[in-house]
Amino acid sequence: MKDMAGPTIYLSEYAPPAYLVDEVHLTFRLDPNATRVLSRIRFRPNPEATDTTFFLHGEQLTLISAAIDGQPVSPEVSDEGLTCAVPDAPFTWEAEVEIAPARNFALEGLYMSNGMYCTQCEAEGFRKITYYPDRPDVMATFTVRIEGDEKVKLSNGNPGASGEGFAEWHDPWPKPAYLFALVAGDLVNHPDRFTTKSGKDVELNIWVRPGDEGKCAFGMEALKKSMTWDEDVYGREYDLDIFNIVAVDDFNMGAMENKGLNIFNSSCVLASPETSTDGNFERIEAIIAHEYFHNWTGNRITCRDWFQLCLKEGLTVYRDSQFTADMRSEPVKRISDVITLRARQFREDNGPLAHNVRPESFQEINNFYTATVYEKGAEVIGMLKELVGDEAYDKALDLYFTRHDGQACTIEDWLTVFEETTGRDLSQFKRWYSQAGTPRLKVREAWEDGTYTLHFSQMTPPTPGQPDKLPQVLPIAVGLLGPNGDEVQETTLLEMTEAEQSFAFPGLAAKPVPSILRGFSAPVILERETTNAERAFLLAHDTDPFNKWEAGRMLAKDGLLRMITDGAAPDAAYLGALQATLSDDSLDPAFRALVLALPSEEDLAQTLFDAGVTPDPDAIHAARERLLEAMAEELEPLLTRLYHDHQVPGAYSPDAGPSAARALANGALALLSRRDGGALAAQQYAAADNMTQQLAALTCLLIAGKGANEVKAFYDQWQADRLVIDKWFALQIAYAAPGEAAGVTGMLTQHPDFTMKNPNRFRATLGALAGNPAGFHAKDGAGYRLLADWLLQLDPLNPQTTARMCSAFETWKRYDADRQDLIRAELERIAAKPGLSRDTSEMVGRILAA
Ligand code: TRP
Ligand code: ZN
Repeated sequence: MKDMAGPTIYLSEYAPPAYLVDEVHLTFRLDPNATRVLSRIRFRPNPEATDTTFFLHGEQLTLISAAIDGQPVSPEVSDEGLTCAVPDAPFTWEAEVEIAPARNFALEGLYMSNGMYCTQCEAEGFRKITYYPDRPDVMATFTVRIEGDEKVKLSNGNPGASGEGFAEWHDPWPKPAYLFALVAGDLVNHPDRFTTKSGKDVELNIWVRPGDEGKCAFGMEALKKSMTWDEDVYGREYDLDIFNIVAVDDFNMGAMENKGLNIFNSSCVLASPETSTDGNFERIEAIIAHEYFHNWTGNRITCRDWFQLCLKEGLTVYRDSQFTADMRSEPVKRISDVITLRARQFREDNGPLAHNVRPESFQEINNFYTATVYEKGAEVIGMLKELVGDEAYDKALDLYFTRHDGQACTIEDWLTVFEETTGRDLSQFKRWYSQAGTPRLKVREAWEDGTYTLHFSQMTPPTPGQPDKLPQVLPIAVGLLGPNGDEVQETTLLEMTEAEQSFAFPGLAAKPVPSILRGFSAPVILERETTNAERAFLLAHDTDPFNKWEAGRMLAKDGLLRMITDGAAPDAAYLGALQATLSDDSLDPAFRALVLALPSEEDLAQTLFDAGVTPDPDAIHAARERLLEAMAEELEPLLTRLYHDHQVPGAYSPDAGPSAARALANGALALLSRRDGGALAAQQYAAADNMTQQLAALTCLLIAGKGANEVKAFYDQWQADRLVIDKWFALQIAYAAPGEAAGVTGMLTQHPDFTMKNPNRFRATLGALAGNPAGFHAKDGAGYRLLADWLLQLDPLNPQTTARMCSAFETWKRYDADRQDLIRAELERIAAKPGLSRDTSEMVGRILAA
């Protein structure tokens, strides 16, 4: 059997490219089954290189001809690329290759989606288009000619000549091959214009399939807001005459920042009130911003190698969350970000797939587009900013942009601009990039003679390949409250650098209540012995919105954990505190909606495991259900009032204000539906004129054990809209009873609208199953088996999405021996499959090695 687990690539083995590229000319003669790609590339030997072998990456290409300086050559071709003898001086390489976009289901390289040609090159997809040094430290200008009958033919940069059957593009900004893009098809556009601060007029377009043109306006507004924001906040202007966005139905991830030609999963750009929820609108705004911000943090300044991925991703996620905080509510954005960080990144960091923010080795780079690189990478930037202060951050960023414009950089380059502008030594801070795992921060307190002291100790548990960890720099934001609830010490930043460290607050009249890790100032797990009375006090009085919410979450969690482990009854004190917070109309409804939401089943499982208890998914689900019933019963009058007070009259708007009102009203409705058998939800469903209200009502009906008619009606109403039908698939699985989830999923995979070739649809079914913990972990193993069956079927077509979804199994070591045996059997069944992709082998291998 061929060992598909390919070679391991190491950061320590980085070597500069042997040849540099000045200019690339590409001609595409489009054909679904036999596209010809002609390349003409100016190479020159790299004076910095140690090796002089001329190697070009190339995979799944048929080489038709090759020439150097006009003379035909016969390179030595392998599965990974080619080598060839070349002059020891600048030369021109020309090649013609043939590829088959219609047979490319991996959605990487040049492929077809609904008859339209499109590309995805990050990270290493350009090598499936032509022979090239496909690494981010080789940057060149690209000129592209597209030949074909399609109405619209797009590539990077500015448009050049075009005419019957052809279009040319020129991108003056040197870029790595992973930012190359091409789109061709019978598309329609939603046009607009933008004038930059310095007066440059830019043409903007969102390109979509005919019929979707009514779903572009919101994305366009988000784009213009992003352009303005990056000018105002980071001083960054756009740098081409045109900026194009294209919506594609078949796409492995959210979106891609190709220079001047961003390509989006249609779910991340198309929006209308009738078909998109408030959550969809917010996400679309954030992703448009993210991809646009990459123009500077990623494209103008790119990564030297893929180990430096967080250089662009961590920073760009950080920037897009600043943007969302500015456009909407800063505290609500922070709380939501921490909820996802804990759900995805802490989960990863505390399991077999834990890795550094800057990994040091990989087999398949696509497996490292992770919550750790993205979200923890963003947290690291946030901590750096807190430590150096806002002004120094701005100065460092200005230096970063001027010094490194046009370069392929490293984390060292990034940290150096901070060291130079602030005079700080960041060598210890750098451990955030080289130590995996979530630090545990323990705190004890002492009170004596008017001095309050916090004693901290930090410890990071071992992760794969890293048994021992050193102390990290932890910015700990702390405030103190007096007994009457007034703040006696406003937020101050403690800088912890040792394994154990104490901080004293003298001169206090009474023992204060501490508010520690305000704003979640470091991505750690805080461990502190405290009382529920103190949590209720902080929920009522803390001036820091994050810790106010956190106190409510801890209160809910404490009660839930006692219900799960000791069979305790729902905590009356929690219900009382919740009642008080929800009744406070001075609080943002969005904040109250977050307070109303209980910790997820996944969050509870993580916490139990961390405390040395084997989580029982059924017991967790049952306890959570019992608490929800108790909340519905105890708070019914208040919930009824909240529901009615937060109905939004008039035309739908996705803005923060009305979205917040709907979030709170629909949170209340979900509980009320447990009391009235879904009567109010059925009314809302019937009256709904937007997807937020319609979907929330349908969810409530399913929670109430009703909604069979509405599920059918919803399908009939929306069957022509792929993105809405994705919701229809996901909803039925997400809210299926634990014992039925696998069965419902299996049945839906037999539905005529199911196709594994579309990643959105695959995620809406199999991904939804993995996201229903009690259902996925059903004791008979049906969930595990069904997912494994489908991963095995998808792998030959789309390794990237298959590998990504293997992470459903990453928590297997948490569970009891029976479940572990069942999961191990499925993982081994996958691993044993002949011809398994490198992507999936690496993931399954790492998970099994736990
Ligand atoms: N760079 C993209 C982003 O962060 C994500 C990305 C990486 C991607 N690889 C991809 C998107 C493959 C689609 C397909 O926005
Ligand atoms: Zn990104």
